Amino acid sequence: MAKIQFDGVGKRYDNGAHAVRDLNLTIEDGEFMVVVGPSGCGKSTALRMAAGLEPITEGRLLFDGHEVNALSARDRDVAMVFQNYALYPHMTVSENIAFPLASRGMAKDEIAQRVARAAETLGLTEYLSRRPKALSGGQRQRVAMGRAIVRDPRLFLMDEPLSNLDAKLRNQMRAEIIGLQKTQGVTTLYVTHDQTEAMTMGDRIAIMRGGVLQQAGAPRDLYDHPANLFVAAFIGSPAMNLFQADLRFTDSGPVLVTSGGTLELGPGAALPARARDHDNRTVVVGLRPEHLSLGDGPGPSLAATLTLTEELPPEKLLHTLITAETPMTDQVVAVAADVDASAVGDLAQDARAHRSRLVARLPVDTPVPASGPLDLRFDPARLHLFDARDGQVIR
Ligand SMILES: Nc1ncnc2c1ncn2[C@@H]1O[C@H](COP(=O)(O)OP(=O)(O)OP(=O)(O)O)[C@@H](O)[C@H]1O
Ligand SMILES: [Mg+2]
Repeated sequence: MAKIQFDGVGKRYDNGAHAVRDLNLTIEDGEFMVVVGPSGCGKSTALRMAAGLEPITEGRLLFDGHEVNALSARDRDVAMVFQNYALYPHMTVSENIAFPLASRGMAKDEIAQRVARAAETLGLTEYLSRRPKALSGGQRQRVAMGRAIVRDPRLFLMDEPLSNLDAKLRNQMRAEIIGLQKTQGVTTLYVTHDQTEAMTMGDRIAIMRGGVLQQAGAPRDLYDHPANLFVAAFIGSPAMNLFQADLRFTDSGPVLVTSGGTLELGPGAALPARARDHDNRTVVVGLRPEHLSLGDGPGPSLAATLTLTEELPPEKLLHTLITAETPMTDQVVAVAADVDASAVGDLAQDARAHRSRLVARLPVDTPVPASGPLDLRFDPARLHLFDARDGQVIR
C-alpha cells in the first residue's frame, strides 16, 4: 500500500503529442481515486506512467515519498486490470490467477493458498478448474481481478475494466470492486470515461480534459462546486443547464439580463464575492435540473416553453426552451464539444434560433401542462456563475 504523488508529471509522446501536462495529484494511502474525462484526455497515459509502462517525460512520480520514475514496471509492485483483460485461454482459472505469482517464483504452497483466498473473495472457487472460454463475461472479469488481488500489490491500476460488460453486470462488478478495495485497503487509481461510474465509485475524482487536470475532489464537492464550465457540464445527468446572460448590479440588486427578460435576483442574492468584477459582462449561468421548480413562490423565474415531458418515476424531466439571444461564446461551444460532440449541432441550432434548452427535474406527480408556456422558478442561492471568456467559476 502506498501514497502516490504525481508531481508536475507530463508526457510527450515521440510524435509530439502532449498527452498529459503538469499533473499534480496525490492519492492517499488506501484511497480510491477515479480519473475521468472524455476520450483522448490522457487518462490511460497517466495510468500507464504510474504502472511504469510508459516513460515519464516531465516531472516526478513518487510512491511513499520516493521517486519511481526510473523504476521498472516489475519493481513498482503495482497490479493492473485493463479493459481487454486478456486471460490465457489455454490455462485454467486457477492457473490464470496464479500466473503473476508463478512467474515470480513463489513457493507452490503459498501460491495455492493465495489463489484459494482470491477465488473465495471473488466467488470463483467452483470455477477454478475451468478454462476462460467456459465462463461468462462477468466471471472472466473476476478472474482478471483475481490476478490483480492475488499479489497484495502496493497499488491497483484499473483502466476501464468494466466497459466490456453489459449494464447489469457492470453495476454488480462496480459494487464488488468497491467492496474489495475497501476490505483490502489498497490504494487504487481507476480510469473511466463514465461519469456515473466515477461518481459512485470514487472517494475522490480527478477530471481531465485535453491532458490537463481540471479539478480533483470528492464526488459531491465536484457536483456542488464545479471549478469551471467543463466540470459543471461533465458531472451530472441530466447535465447542468447553462445559458448566457449579462450580469448587472442595479440599485435593487443584481440582475441577469437575457433577451427573454430580466431576472431580478433580489437584494439578498448571495452572489460570490468576485461577481462584482463581472458587472456589465456576459456570464454563463448554471442551474442544476433539480434546482428548477414550478408554481408561485419566492425567487426569480424564467419564462420557458415546455416542449417535452419524460416520466422516469419517481421523477419527471421537463424539456423546455428559453429565449437567450446572446451568442454563445467560443468557450461555451468548446466545452460542449468536449463533453458531448453531438451536442454542438444542437447548440449551433439554438444560437441561430436565439434560444437555450433547459431541463427541469421534478417529482413525477407534479401537475404540468402538456405543452406551452411555464415559469421555471429558482433559488438564486443555487446559481453557478462562470466567466464566459475563460469558463472559470466566479468565486
Ligand atoms: N503511444 C502513443 N503515441 C502517440 N500518441 C499517443 C499514444 N498513446 C496515446 N496517444 C495520444 O495521447 C492522447 C491521450 O491518449 P490516452 O490514451 O491517454 O487517452 P484516454 O483519456 O485514455 O482516452 P480513451 O478514453 O479514448 O481511452 C491522445 O491524443 C492520444 O492520441
Ligand atoms: Mg484510455
